[in-house]
Amino acid sequence: MDENLKNKVVLLRTDFNVPTKGNKITDFTRINESIPTIKALIEKQATIIILTHRGRPNGKIDMKLSMVPVAKEVENIIQKPIEFIDNIGEKIDNNPEKIFMLENIRFDGREEKNEMSFAEELSKMADIFINDAFSVSHRSHASLCGIPRFLPSYFGLCMSKEIKALQNSLNKPKEPFIGIIGGSKISTKISVLKNLINKVNIMVIGGAMANTFLRAKDINVGSSLYESDSLDIAKDIMKNAKEKNVKLILPVDGKVSKSFSKSELSKNKNLDEIEPDDMILDLGIESIKIILSELEIAKTVIWNGPLGAIEYPPFDQSTIAVAKELARNCRIKNIKAVAGGGDTVYGINLANCIEDFTHVSTAGGAFLEWLEGKTLPGVSAILNKK
Ligand code: 3PG
Repeated sequence: MDENLKNKVVLLRTDFNVPTKGNKITDFTRINESIPTIKALIEKQATIIILTHRGRPNGKIDMKLSMVPVAKEVENIIQKPIEFIDNIGEKIDNNPEKIFMLENIRFDGREEKNEMSFAEELSKMADIFINDAFSVSHRSHASLCGIPRFLPSYFGLCMSKEIKALQNSLNKPKEPFIGIIGGSKISTKISVLKNLINKVNIMVIGGAMANTFLRAKDINVGSSLYESDSLDIAKDIMKNAKEKNVKLILPVDGKVSKSFSKSELSKNKNLDEIEPDDMILDLGIESIKIILSELEIAKTVIWNGPLGAIEYPPFDQSTIAVAKELARNCRIKNIKAVAGGGDTVYGINLANCIEDFTHVSTAGGAFLEWLEGKTLPGVSAILNKK
């Protein structure tokens, strides 16, 4: 972004895959996070062509997934008109007064197939490529991996911020380094758990996936959700943690209910009090206390996955308590806390403290793949050019 961009046409890949209800955008984070790069490009008098996607239209035009509502939002924020371009491949004349946007790039089937001819066509429109779409950079798509073959390519400000936050916390963490992994399924997070065990000093397990760990230790979880076919994986991870001297924190109690709809009848129970028809839907009071006391000493924390069934209050309490404690420790003790994933961000927002975190990623899948230790194709496409 330090390059001389005056009179240059910049193809800017953003991720405007934003949650919507009908045609109304319900979360503006990704749009807001792209604004600093757009503003910096305007200041440098570059001509911007925004290239982005929404949803999974499978290579077909689906106007429910048009970029028009997002373009309106960006127009309002930056107070400049946005003009849609219909002809891919046509070189745009330098015109910093306007911002251009392409319609949802996934309306063209060649995008997801990473067709080089498509990447070349897109590249012909501009002089420079900037990837500011960290949250989709785990996809080997033409607009992310193909274009850097044809144009000088750089990271945008949002992308650089995401990469730096993850690199700092995973590669050079101040210790004690705590990983907090929640969510419902171990099976979706096996590689994350395996990779993090090599890096953290303490690993906290929450969410329904904790039930699978408890079952693997032969602890009764009543009728709680757990993955019977992941018991060996849980055993492996526990063995691995022991060998690596990683303290694994599993729940010692739970907030249980007979059903999600009878949340008002929920009770805090020790694990040995769980009845056959009890469902553990959140961490219990003791488990929360243990986690908070570990967080007292943490210097770096990485967090993915809610710790309870946050969409059914009061089973959001442990997630809220942990979010508040992390935010407080960032504020008061200057610890580094990095979180990511849609549900985790939703949970942090319930606690109303997102601003205090060191970094909250805009990414879901890309964040997880980074935690797995993978190199994201959209990132390496640019790094390998340098
Ligand atoms: C996301 O929302 O995580 C990204 O935009 C990627 O979307 P995808 O999973 O449809 O590729």
